[in-house]
Amino acid sequence: MAISEKVLKALNAQLNREIYSAYLYLSMSAYFESINLKGFSNWMRVQWQEELVHAMKFFDYITSRGGRVELYGIETPPKEWKSPIDVFEFALNHEKNVTSRINELVELSMAEKDYATLNMLRWFIDEQVEEEKSFEEILIKLRFVGSDARALFFLDAELAKRKFGVEDETGSSLQD
Ligand code: FEO
Repeated sequence: MAISEKVLKALNAQLNREIYSAYLYLSMSAYFESINLKGFSNWMRVQWQEELVHAMKFFDYITSRGGRVELYGIETPPKEWKSPIDVFEFALNHEKNVTSRINELVELSMAEKDYATLNMLRWFIDEQVEEEKSFEEILIKLRFVGSDARALFFLDAELAKRKFGVEDETGSSLQD
């Protein structure tokens, strides 16, 4: 069954949102470099890579259904934040927004009786649970750290360990 115009448009919009997410986390990585928190910067750089994988999942899916991928201009992401907590609060809100958009896509697929798209979106439903959890966990740690520079140094060292595509306590994995 050919993909409907409505679903195609919504999938392309989400593909572009995932690219924006990548861009946002790359900007956060640059912010952490600027305040000399290299572990946090590394964590965000891995997140940038994860978001590009999310974008390419939409790219490949659209193509596999015979649809045409459309790339939009990328919005300029924010550049400055007040603190690491401010960054992670911003990021968690962003992820909650992404979850809502995925849920809207699920609803649209159901309305359009597009069961293949519905099935593809299952991966994203699970992934969003992981995404929110990993941001939330770091936010909790940052709240414990407070203004303790030594504790921040240790957290930075922990986040330096995150590697792209490897599951550990500092980030979700990319397995599918
Ligand atoms: Fe692509 Fe962070 O969700």
